[in-house]
Amino acid sequence: MDDRSFLDGLTDIVGPSGIATAAADLAPWLTDWRERVTGDALALVSPKNVGQVQAIVRLASEAGVVIVPQGGNTGMVAGGVPCPGDRAILLSLRKMNAIRSIDAADNSLTAEAGAILSNVHAAAEEHGRRFPLSLGAKDSATIGGLIATNAGGTQVLRFGSMRNLTLGVEAVLPDGSLFEGLSTLRKDNRGYDLRQLLAGSEGTLGIITAASLKLIPAAPHRTVAWIGLGSASDALALLRLLESEVGDAVESFELVPQAALELVLKHIPGTRAPLAGEHRWNVLTELRSASDPEDLRSQCESGLAGALDQGLIADAVIAESEGQAEAFWKIREVISEAERADGRAAKHDVSVPVSAMPRFIEDATQAVEDRFAGTRVVAFGHLGDGNVHFNVRAPASGDDAKWLAETGPQVSSFVHDLTHGVGGSLSAEHGIGQLKLSEFARVTDPTLLSALRAIKQALDPRGIMNPGKLVPLANPDDNP
Ligand code: FAD
Ligand code: MLT
Ligand code: ZN
Repeated sequence: MDDRSFLDGLTDIVGPSGIATAAADLAPWLTDWRERVTGDALALVSPKNVGQVQAIVRLASEAGVVIVPQGGNTGMVAGGVPCPGDRAILLSLRKMNAIRSIDAADNSLTAEAGAILSNVHAAAEEHGRRFPLSLGAKDSATIGGLIATNAGGTQVLRFGSMRNLTLGVEAVLPDGSLFEGLSTLRKDNRGYDLRQLLAGSEGTLGIITAASLKLIPAAPHRTVAWIGLGSASDALALLRLLESEVGDAVESFELVPQAALELVLKHIPGTRAPLAGEHRWNVLTELRSASDPEDLRSQCESGLAGALDQGLIADAVIAESEGQAEAFWKIREVISEAERADGRAAKHDVSVPVSAMPRFIEDATQAVEDRFAGTRVVAFGHLGDGNVHFNVRAPASGDDAKWLAETGPQVSSFVHDLTHGVGGSLSAEHGIGQLKLSEFARVTDPTLLSALRAIKQALDPRGIMNPGKLVPLANPDDNP
């Protein structure tokens, strides 16, 4: 089928308002959030319902055209943009954004794939419930994208990542069939779990069109603190101390180095440092429980006082108002934006055992800065999950884009080898996409890679679903 006939067929399915082919309409969606890859597409197609998605998939399969599902395009590994040179369509789920239902008695919510995370938060709150997963891109990231990347975020410590919160999935498979898996069952042992296979599949096995999500009871009061301290190991000791005071009320425990705070203050208008002095490390923690807010606050104060006595922390402030809590969180959530504004960095999203993380940060920083002269490591993120964004900034002088192209791959291999050496993962929460594919192939057990290829081949024998992402080709030289 030639391109013209294919595009005419798409227009028949979605109508003229559901398809765009002009370069200016496609451009914002063809480059990934980190601005590392710009792909090609014949069209941006925006279906309004499941039937249209099925018809698009069948037509693309017949025409041999690649489908790249896309939600908010906030992914960090260029999984949601086509590979350069592909004969592809971008399949945007953004118009399928309804909250289909909320069942407060069942603690569940069913939303279409294009529903934006902050809208899901708001819908749950209206029913006295919470959807306990959040991240900096919450105003753009969609439920489909969050499931397809098995996103983590800032509450994994307590509630787990997206797959833990996904009860059911509805998806169009690569042959156009519909998997009607929108169950909200808490227990279901009927063999292989397609829902869990689709979680983290990055659009390579099918198109998620809706999902049922787990809700928890609302806990409207929170205690948010910003703490200055001297080392990452003190930060981990503080986490364990706070847990001994407040149990599992510790919901977030985020590590922010002084260098990241400085980037935010430099690039993001309206931000200001929470503490008067400078500290090599900072922690942002949030505690929530259904108990009296004053109790939680005083437990937090007592934990922090104990930490001060033990010399674990240097200073701390507990937010006095929701506005102040939001201001603390804003600093944490805009770090990536501030980094992006400051120039190029080799970014890594690594996880190691939580207990090994402080040592890893110290040792790996030293090793990288010694080996690659002039680089500066900015390691921030989810200490409580053993997940740190270990970003290596280009030397201050010189062309940072050139540095990234020429030296970035060596830096990344070095960081991933260090991670692998302590039993860690090169992708804690962002996935593999295009950007990590060759490194994933390099450091991963061949048995696992064969199993991934076998699953992909079984479900998508024609290879139309988001090729060039996540599943490395058997010949390593063929991977981007
Ligand atoms: P997209 O970027 O559009 O797509 C991501 C992947 O999912 C692609 O492979 C795409 O093909 C696939 N996909 C999208 N929709 C579907 C669908 N309906 N069916 C099948 N496949 C689909 N991530 C974290 O894990 N933790 C964080 O703390 C975090 N913080 C972030 C902060 C900022 C400021 C930004 C910009 C991003 C952050 N991210 C974080 C990354 C990103 O938000 C998540 O990966 C998110 O899940 C992507 O959602 P999206 O709708 O934008 O998906
Ligand atoms: C975060 O934790 O802020 C994100 O995962 C984004 C990033 O790593 O840049
Ligand atoms: Zn993160």
